[in-house]
Amino acid sequence: MNPTIEFIDLKAQYADLKQEINARIQRVLDHGQFVMGPEVRELEERLEGYTGAAHCITVASGTEALLISLMALGVRPGDEVITTPFTFVATAEVIALLGATPVFVDIEPDTCNIDSTLLEAAITSKTRAIIPVSLYGQASDMDEINTIAARNGGIAVIEDAAQSFGATYKGRKSCNVSLIGCTSFFPSKPLGCFGDGGAIFTSDAVLAQAMREIRVHGQQRRYHHTRIGVGGRMDTIQCAIVLAKLERFDWEVERRIKVGDAYLRLLASKEGIVPPVLRSDRTSVWGQFTIQVDGRNAVLERMKSAGIPTAVHYPLPLHLQPAYRDLCRSAGPLANAEAVAARVVSLPMHPYLTAEAQRTIVHSVSEALTQFA
Ligand SMILES: Cc1ncc(COP(=O)(O)O)c(C=O)c1O
Repeated sequence: MNPTIEFIDLKAQYADLKQEINARIQRVLDHGQFVMGPEVRELEERLEGYTGAAHCITVASGTEALLISLMALGVRPGDEVITTPFTFVATAEVIALLGATPVFVDIEPDTCNIDSTLLEAAITSKTRAIIPVSLYGQASDMDEINTIAARNGGIAVIEDAAQSFGATYKGRKSCNVSLIGCTSFFPSKPLGCFGDGGAIFTSDAVLAQAMREIRVHGQQRRYHHTRIGVGGRMDTIQCAIVLAKLERFDWEVERRIKVGDAYLRLLASKEGIVPPVLRSDRTSVWGQFTIQVDGRNAVLERMKSAGIPTAVHYPLPLHLQPAYRDLCRSAGPLANAEAVAARVVSLPMHPYLTAEAQRTIVHSVSEALTQFA
């Protein structure tokens, strides 16, 4: 593997932030409140300020954020939750865990986000929530989705913003563009910790209170349980790490946007490569920078032999996964999701990626395509 091109460069980030991160961790070691210590609320307040949402509830992971959100909404067996089949499995997993049915709606072939024009036809009397995923770092048509949800009896909309923290939609921050926003602080995410972590955002005080209780085994006060909950807290140390990383986050978002722009310029004239499409009213944090090509295997092999790391997000849509095939419902054909799953390739993407590395990467992709054409 080419040591100079990393898929995600967490080492460079740590080198940049070492003092602040180490100091933050040391403070937690000194005060010893490893669970629900002061950094937990400090981070929540900082993120409320950042997103503009009235309430932030940190949780154990992005998956837990989605699960707790659905639990707070009261989703239960027999209910339906509409989402995209072209996402990380956690989005549908939490629906199935609650005994509800994931209902899949096809995606737009260019953004790979849920196609909002197909949404209304998928709604039934059982629909309790809609989970659009801000895939690869770009939000879906949130206004259209919110409007459809409102017009159909006030269905809850949860943005799965695991890949898009820091992105904007019509000037508003991802995580604060629908009733609920859920993000992940998994290390490789745009804002990551050094393990598992996540957060829920909402401006609904009643839901926020329910989420805070569900996060700690459904208790209102110690050992008094008014609802069923989970052990879903985010560790104090992980909150401290995110607080340290927030110092550089604006710079990182700016860099991500610049690196994404540079890729788009380099790819514009390349035969056989379909670059990702960004809608003009949004910004992406490029959680993944994902192109589409025919003959993906050849490209992956060529990149590997050139020492350039790549990934496939995602090779098989969820309605075709053995665990979901029989328990999901497909609202119409999912042809775009199936076609795109065979064509996507994610390229190295992080704030420290140099212009030279980007040229090498793009050269390597186009060479593979001409070689195997
Ligand atoms: C779209 C999406 N949803 C949910 C998750 C789950 O987040 P976590 O890994 O923090 O549980 C991820 C993480 O990969 C994701 O990409």
